[in-house]
Amino acid sequence: MATLISDTAPWKHLKTHVGEIDKTHLRDLMGDADRCNSMMLEFDGIFFDYSRQRATVDTVSKLFALAEEARLKQKINSMFNGEHINSTENRSVLHVALRASKDATINSDGKNVVPDVWKVLDKIKEFSDKVRSGSWVGATGKSLTNVIAIGIGGSFLGPLFVHTALQTDPVASKSAGGRQLRFLANVDPVDVARNISGLDPETTLVVVVSKTFTTAETMLNARTLREWISSACKPQAVSKHMVAVSTNLKLVEKFGIDPNNAFAFWDWVGGRYSVCSAVGVLPLSLQYGFPVIEKYSKGARSIDQHFHSAPFEKNIPVLLGLLSIWNVSFLGYPARAILPYTQALEKLAPHIQQVSMESNGKGVSIDGIRLPFEAGEIDFGEPGTNGQHSFYQLIHQGRVIPCDFIGIVKSQQPVYLKDEVVNNHDELMSNFFAQPDALAYGKTPEQLQSENVASHLVPHKTFTGNRPSLSLLLPSLDAYRIGQLLAIYEHRIAVEGFIWGINSFDQWGVELGKSLASQVRKQLHASRKKGESVEGFNFSTTKLLTRYLEASADVPSEPTTLLPKI
Ligand code: F6P
Repeated sequence: MATLISDTAPWKHLKTHVGEIDKTHLRDLMGDADRCNSMMLEFDGIFFDYSRQRATVDTVSKLFALAEEARLKQKINSMFNGEHINSTENRSVLHVALRASKDATINSDGKNVVPDVWKVLDKIKEFSDKVRSGSWVGATGKSLTNVIAIGIGGSFLGPLFVHTALQTDPVASKSAGGRQLRFLANVDPVDVARNISGLDPETTLVVVVSKTFTTAETMLNARTLREWISSACKPQAVSKHMVAVSTNLKLVEKFGIDPNNAFAFWDWVGGRYSVCSAVGVLPLSLQYGFPVIEKYSKGARSIDQHFHSAPFEKNIPVLLGLLSIWNVSFLGYPARAILPYTQALEKLAPHIQQVSMESNGKGVSIDGIRLPFEAGEIDFGEPGTNGQHSFYQLIHQGRVIPCDFIGIVKSQQPVYLKDEVVNNHDELMSNFFAQPDALAYGKTPEQLQSENVASHLVPHKTFTGNRPSLSLLLPSLDAYRIGQLLAIYEHRIAVEGFIWGINSFDQWGVELGKSLASQVRKQLHASRKKGESVEGFNFSTTKLLTRYLEASADVPSEPTTLLPKI
């Protein structure tokens, strides 16, 4: 019988230890310079400060004992060694191979996968160079200066995050040279309208990104844009205007995309971990050029090596993962706010939501035993100052939400105004430095009284403090740093899953909703085409569906093709 981590002595020691931590306040913990100093480290330009965690040096050593008990080191090694750690899908988990150097050896099922990875990367380089230089043109002879990447979930969120972060980087934006990259994810026709708005099909390349090439949303969107292209040009135009990224090359061909224009990846790459495969590298190279994206992969590689080899006390993803476990499973804080102090990282939180919540939102252990504790955490976030004027009220005086503060030393786009007290980036960063202390220290009734605050307002203006956060300070935000940040979060989430003893690499929880939607799809078809009444659903769903069908009775039962026009 497999043992759950919650049955082990290190877990129980940490449970007891909560009582000791409850007697402390961050206001006092922060006064111990030696403690704080031991909770700061630097790797390859990234400065990490976790002194504002509700933890002591003793907590950290107890977390290391938990890591030992969970066999964290062995599990990390198993991942890098290509063992089938995704046991429910019988697959290895090798996104680290996607950013390995050409001469590295990483085996999956006895085969070094790195040459295959580089074969695809070289093909992307060649193809993206051709499109960008105008030697690959559309069906009517025009250069393809716009790209729409169709995909959802992991085939969308990671590439969108990287694209948004690179857009304002001077090197990347110069290299983009006025090209456009858009993402069509939602099956909502409104998203189609937004994506094609203002674009000319004759100058647009569509990249269909889907690991399985069966995802309903992506395939309908792909058929929609195939229609958009072939009706504007000619049906034969598809071979010049549509390419694909998938593990399922047979279905790519069946769809009508030339297999020569397909870019492969492999089942050992999880969708949400696929941004360094052709999923991200193709659209991003088309936009920014392969050399920029290669730098991004190198950043991720630097963290992969650090994660694999650094001792736990100096290992940023390991420490981050263990501290998350402490916050979620012991201190009882189920959520985490991701708060980058740069607009360029506005899509970091949406990406990490999928990586984290699809990976660790599980109810059973890897051996199928129902967990007696909650795994996973609720991730959300916004760029810092926007969040401050939105949900920070709750994190200062309402619920306790551990926060990740992410700051950048040098802005991608500095602004200096001659009469201002500080430059614009310093203004932004003032908040990055102030907020963690406001959360940690709070403000006492005594302080308020000494400021002559009216007594009836004292309770309202009191801040309890003792609210944990951590800070990551990056020297800049170029492609390399973006790659580092991505890999830090990916590995942190793996560490959490390894400790909880779950499978962070499957996603069975998305299946039930999909199959019920297919039942509804059949009903909508039968009702619209044959006037059949709604049957086989519970009372509430029958009522809602009937209402929907009645209220949209003007939808033609045999429609001619209609595409959005805005
Ligand atoms: O949401 C479920 C999921 O399977 C994700 O894991 C995946 O990233 C997404 O759908 C898209 O899948 P595909 O790349 O196969 O279209």
